[in-house]
Amino acid sequence: MVWQRQHVLGLADFTPEEYQMVLQTSASFQEVLTRRLPKVPTLQGKVVVTLFFEPSTRTRSSFELAAKRLSADVLNFSPGTSSLGKGETLLDTARTFLAMGSDLLIVRHAQAGVPQQLAAEIDRRGSPVGVLNAGDGLHEHPTQGLLDLFTLCSHLDPRRPRLELLQGIKIAIVGDILHSRVARSDIYALVAAGAEVHLAGPPTLLPKDFAQFVPGHTLPVHWQLEPALEGSRFVITLRLQQERMGEFLLPSLQEYHHLFGLTRQRLRLCHPEVRVLHPGPVNRGVELSSEVMEDPGLNLIEQQVTHGVAVRMALLYLMGGGRIPA
Ligand code: NCD
Repeated sequence: MVWQRQHVLGLADFTPEEYQMVLQTSASFQEVLTRRLPKVPTLQGKVVVTLFFEPSTRTRSSFELAAKRLSADVLNFSPGTSSLGKGETLLDTARTFLAMGSDLLIVRHAQAGVPQQLAAEIDRRGSPVGVLNAGDGLHEHPTQGLLDLFTLCSHLDPRRPRLELLQGIKIAIVGDILHSRVARSDIYALVAAGAEVHLAGPPTLLPKDFAQFVPGHTLPVHWQLEPALEGSRFVITLRLQQERMGEFLLPSLQEYHHLFGLTRQRLRLCHPEVRVLHPGPVNRGVELSSEVMEDPGLNLIEQQVTHGVAVRMALLYLMGGGRIPA
């Protein structure tokens, strides 16, 4: 199969073949990253731009490192130090980078739909430049969805991570699903893999129509933690996105922890080999107790960060038309 997608804006319409290609390619790059010299000439001469209109440390650094490991030239743009303050529009900013000969634009924005808008402009010009969505508002965060998928599959078979491994596996997604673009992308990826996805959170952060989030599929929605945890092989926890919440959605953080926080005690309801994921940043003592966070035998949080680089290398490679490493 050949990669056909110029832009990666979300996982809603990803095909099983595309997921498999990303998993397989990520596994090759994961191997590259363990070498003494963890760098390949794949994207030599290509220009990759990170356009981050929203604060971010880990996602931006992860993309930057991924592009550098592929030997691309990387330009980082953030509004604080830019001409946006001088009244330049976002499209004009992007045009400047296109005029410099950029090959890939990685875009994060607090508003849903911005990467789509840029991609539409690029298509209108008939340009081959690719747009990669690094998180847009409450819409999607496809690279996080793919790195979570890769982390789950490689946990089950490190040598050959593939979609079928998650078939019929119970996975709970817990927390602030309403405000989470990670939850949305994760749901698409995990349902495509045939996993049994359960959603859990307080009713204010998990509206019941999430049950119908994926067309033609009904997801169990729980307003209590326990039924979602029972027998789960994996639990994906999400940050309470307080910056996106109006007031009054939660009585207090302590109350949230009391009802939905993951503790070692609560995890006893899960599969005996349960593993916990979190996209970060974690509100320690809220979504996860310190004991769960500090136990590398119980959580896969560091693997998520490590795999993030390999998965982003895979996407940049697939979209940038580079050569796969020998
Ligand atoms: C996520 C995001 O920005 O959507 N974080 C991330 O990409 N590392 C989740 C979050 O902010 O909670």
